[in-house]
Amino acid sequence: MASFAVKTATQSYQAHVERGCLARVPEFIPARAGRVFVVSTDDVWALYGAAFTAAMKGRAFHRIAFPGGEINKRMAAVEAMAEEMVAQGGDRSSIVIAFGGGIVNDLGGFLAAIFMRGVPVIQIPTTLLSQVDAGVGGKTGANLASGKNLVGAFHQPLVVLTDPDLLATLPEREYRAGIQEVVKCGVIRSAGLFELMRLRPADVLAKDSSTIEQMIAESVGIKCEVVSADEKESGLRKILNFGHTVGHALEAETGYTHFLHGEAVGIGMKAAAHLSHLTGRLSPADCQAIVETVDLYGPFPALDSLDPVRVASHLKKDKKALQGSVHFVLATAIGTTEVVSGIDDATVLEAIRLSLQ
Ligand code: GLY
Repeated sequence: MASFAVKTATQSYQAHVERGCLARVPEFIPARAGRVFVVSTDDVWALYGAAFTAAMKGRAFHRIAFPGGEINKRMAAVEAMAEEMVAQGGDRSSIVIAFGGGIVNDLGGFLAAIFMRGVPVIQIPTTLLSQVDAGVGGKTGANLASGKNLVGAFHQPLVVLTDPDLLATLPEREYRAGIQEVVKCGVIRSAGLFELMRLRPADVLAKDSSTIEQMIAESVGIKCEVVSADEKESGLRKILNFGHTVGHALEAETGYTHFLHGEAVGIGMKAAAHLSHLTGRLSPADCQAIVETVDLYGPFPALDSLDPVRVASHLKKDKKALQGSVHFVLATAIGTTEVVSGIDDATVLEAIRLSLQ
């Protein structure tokens, strides 16, 4: 179907978007690799473990079962997995395959980044959200009690295998949550992709085959281009955080259990659209288009008990805040953004309030 290159200072690799590419996994395991470790949850393994095992054509591997959930995306889990690797004969020649949704991609990637000071990782994202975002770009990490992804490393994969066939079993709520990251890609970089998401919700929600392929391929292409230009998020890569500043605050305020990440990003994009409009950057029509497009892919978990002041209180704790100053990615039109800091608290609060209506 499509293949996109990521070229960074440390690594060049391909992100393949191709139906059935799970079956190609052995092609990407280097001949010199030693023990192969596959990190996945029991859910993913129950659905796709047999297909993975068949694809490996007798090549030995050890599966590490991760329990799943933000609550378990912690250093303790990474340590336990590393101990399991050692117990199972892992060494510097080992390779990790992170086979799952965004949490598995992040945590499995982090395990690979630090095991024996770094072994290669292959990313096989299995949810829409991870296929269009977390699986590509080399951000890996774990949560601390004090916040999400507060420890981690950039560790680019050997290859990303994005198989849209894996979405056939994705629960509806997770699919809708992942769609929000596709909407994000449209807002930040592609008016054409945004129009697809705005005008063709029936095809998107029906998982129409060519529509899904277009959504994933365009989003992965955007992500690869942005990461290639700015691997370590010193500039352009910040645009991938559109909607994430308030999104992360919503997740923190609700203890990481109320929203799926994509749902929080959806509400966060509404806040960012309102903030873009309130600060005079975005036309009312484009603001409305963003808000309405996000809402096409709801429903969202209940918002009525959320206090905008409490949500706002988390912003300064976000790891993207620098010396207490909160940075927002704001839209200037559909397809273009700018990174802004120093917005007064009252305007931010109003944008959050509007996003929660
Ligand atoms: N998820 C945002 C990034 O990869 O930079």
